[in-house]
Amino acid sequence: MRGLFITFEGIDGSGKTTQIRLLYDYLVKEGYSVVLTREPGGTRIGDKIRGLLLDPENREMTDRTEVLLYAASRAQHVQEVILPAVASGKIVLCDRFVDASLAYQGYGHEKTLEDIVGINEYATGGVKPDRTYMLMLSLEESGSRLQTRFAGEEGPDRIEMKPVSYHSRVWHGFNEIANGSPHRIRQVDAGGSREEIQEEIRKDFMAYIKQTMKG
Ligand code: TMP
Repeated sequence: MRGLFITFEGIDGSGKTTQIRLLYDYLVKEGYSVVLTREPGGTRIGDKIRGLLLDPENREMTDRTEVLLYAASRAQHVQEVILPAVASGKIVLCDRFVDASLAYQGYGHEKTLEDIVGINEYATGGVKPDRTYMLMLSLEESGSRLQTRFAGEEGPDRIEMKPVSYHSRVWHGFNEIANGSPHRIRQVDAGGSREEIQEEIRKDFMAYIKQTMKG
């Protein structure tokens, strides 16, 4: 039986990495065969590309280079990890996918969305997530969570260093994307407690699995 391809999306600081990990732990405990992966990265080559993309020293990187590097990491990831896992019946949980490129590179850099769609169609061979959890958080709340994170060990990466006006366009982009695909994308209020958010995602996902297995 074919597996499932599930993605998590949201602005920086929305808590998606914590939530995807909690869902992964739960599904493993329940006996499902699950792969937890992320973009950019998820493969040896993808992790090298991630290093290039997020290194704050790479200030001269052009917008087009950025689009292509995210897509290159994705192309490798789809072929090497996502397709084989789904074909062997596994549930793939992926932290970010094409929606992130539409929001960050398309809306964020005000690039033509059709170009981003086209480049990513080529990169993925048309692979689409079965379901996406989009963690919705206000820009103000995300900003204050990131400030707390940056006050610790971890400084901002190259994308997080971009101005508030950029992140505001990304935020708007994620909203448009979520509202444009209500069947695939489940919007989750990321303002609640970690447990409340996980409960909502888990409930929805278990109902989704039941429904797809019936169909
Ligand atoms: P992460 O914080 O989810 O690990 O992602 C790293 C950064 O890369 C984050 O700021 C979002 C950004 N990003 C894009 O700009 N485009 C993309 O296609 C992806 C996957 C991530």
